[in-house]
Amino acid sequence: MANEIRFFELNTGAKIPSVGLGTWQAPPGLVGDAVAAAVKIGYRHIDCAQVYGNEKEIGVVLNKLFEDGVVKREELFITSKLWCSDHAPEDVPAALDRTLQDLQLDYVDLYLIHWPIRSKKGSVGLKLENLLPTDIPATWKAMEALYDSGKARAIGVSNFATKKLGDLLEVARIPPAVNQVECHPSWRQTKLREFCKSKGVHLSGYSPLGSPGTTWIKSDVLTNPILTMVAEKLGKTPAQVALRWGLQMGHSVLPKSTHEERIKENFDVFDWSIPEDLFAKFSEIEQASTTSQGNFICP
Ligand code: A2P
Repeated sequence: MANEIRFFELNTGAKIPSVGLGTWQAPPGLVGDAVAAAVKIGYRHIDCAQVYGNEKEIGVVLNKLFEDGVVKREELFITSKLWCSDHAPEDVPAALDRTLQDLQLDYVDLYLIHWPIRSKKGSVGLKLENLLPTDIPATWKAMEALYDSGKARAIGVSNFATKKLGDLLEVARIPPAVNQVECHPSWRQTKLREFCKSKGVHLSGYSPLGSPGTTWIKSDVLTNPILTMVAEKLGKTPAQVALRWGLQMGHSVLPKSTHEERIKENFDVFDWSIPEDLFAKFSEIEQASTTSQGNFICP
């Protein structure tokens, strides 16, 4: 029997479900059905963000799932993220309150600084003329206050490279529980992964399938010859192998889909594993160039 790897433990003691539904680029009108389908299939982790523009619809669906008795609030792990235009310490609590109102929740399980980038209040995109100098220690203090208040049961960061995470750890009273970054077989985050592990920060991987269809993210993960060879040998799909690889590497994965069959397929990764000899082959996969990493438009 394979080690299922259903959860990872955070430095708060909480358990983060290893597979979460990604909602970036899940358009309003489709995201609600995707969340409902995922929860019915067994997902217990939904990855949201205010800037994705779909938290209201997710909130309506979550509320209905609770009312219908499909799942209890305490069984779900809900993540959301502070957008760059809300980094000013005085704006942080209001941003979380907006998210909680939209999601119709009293607390989130995890609240992340979305990017180590600050933009002018009210701005949405990250145009150069809207960027301001960051003060991560000040923003983090405001995040710590949210943790103290219980509205965010864990706090963390996203898109933080090793140096930025190290700087934050030096000043944090409450160390970040999670660093959520792009991570898939073509972008293994080797250095950051080691650093996170040594500091007890859980790495969570967005775009675990390489975001097929998104041009600026490495998008040929699912057609990589090593991945497809392993998939063929195991009788699994390339997507399942990419996700299972993530779990065996020790990080949670956040595949996005708005199609029920794929949502189901992406959750069928627990009762089998990639044997050691095939797992070792992943280290031969060429790593993405830094061009996709240089872009910070959204996830
Ligand atoms: P769709 O939402 O139409 O199903 P990532 O999570 O790496 O960002 O990738 C998300 C993209 O991958 C979406 O375009 C999604 O499309 C597609 N996708 C999700 N699951 C699968 C799958 N099992 N096989 C192929 N493509 C998938």
